Amino acid sequence: MKLLLIAMPGDEALAARLATDLDATVAELELRRFPDQETYVRIKTPVRDHSVAIVCSLKHPDGKFLPLAFTAAAARDLGATRVGLVAPYLSYLRQDKRFRDGEAITSVYFARLISDTFDWLLTVDPHLHRFHDLGDIYRLEAANVHAAPLLANWIKANIDYPLVIGPDAESEQWVSAVAARADAPHLVLTKERLGDRNVRITAPDLTPYRDRQPVLVDDIVSSGHTIIEAARLLAAAGLPRPIVVAVHAVLNDEAYATLQEVGLRLVTTNTIPHATNGINASPILAEAIARLSYGKSLTR
Ligand code: R5P
Repeated sequence: MKLLLIAMPGDEALAARLATDLDATVAELELRRFPDQETYVRIKTPVRDHSVAIVCSLKHPDGKFLPLAFTAAAARDLGATRVGLVAPYLSYLRQDKRFRDGEAITSVYFARLISDTFDWLLTVDPHLHRFHDLGDIYRLEAANVHAAPLLANWIKANIDYPLVIGPDAESEQWVSAVAARADAPHLVLTKERLGDRNVRITAPDLTPYRDRQPVLVDDIVSSGHTIIEAARLLAAAGLPRPIVVAVHAVLNDEAYATLQEVGLRLVTTNTIPHATNGINASPILAEAIARLSYGKSLTR
């Protein structure tokens, strides 16, 4: 039976690309609010005996979760054989510890909700910090694919004489992978987070790289402070203005406007729909969906 994709609102473009890559059909979904703001869901395309993958990028997840859970429940109820979640951006991974008494460890609770709702989960470069693997908190087949090769290909095709730079020590492993594939040298900065919107960044000696085009590579751009601070540091060291290549465009309009004001060019993948999307993540997702939707693990 052919795979059926269901696109949640905002994710139609990626679902259409995936449908092409997978030779799958996008099911018709009617989703609206009743006057009392409760959610109405109707899957108009028959799903019985089909494997279903719901595409929902989970930036701003709170308003998305109930419609998503109802859609998954409806698909199951209507006879879908498997119901998976393609969340190219997976939220609720940052609060991975109780930092202060009484705090909720939302990454764990969100993982429980998703695990109870779906048979499998696929995402791109989840922001794992204290957890090493999604399997530490997710109790379903949880797979992730890496955007590093896509970022490297973009850099190689678009930037002459690049220097790949990671904003913090944590980024070393994947920044070095991007740089190797892009045939470029790399270095990482040292970042200290002083608050939600305040970071301090320091750099090693940059003088040997003054003739190179710096490319800042990060998994997430959110408030934009990390890359703005990093760009300031590079400018002070006499390097050209960096180009920023990131996986997930989590940033809001205000942060994007600030980046534009300071003249930073940002290129992101389409894991979150955004004006800066310039790298298509659909091929790496499609390959994984083809396995997961028919019950095959990505790791075995
Ligand atoms: C942090 O560990 C991440 O890799 C990013 O550097 C961070 O999330 C970016 O956040 P912001 O844009 O708010 O500085």
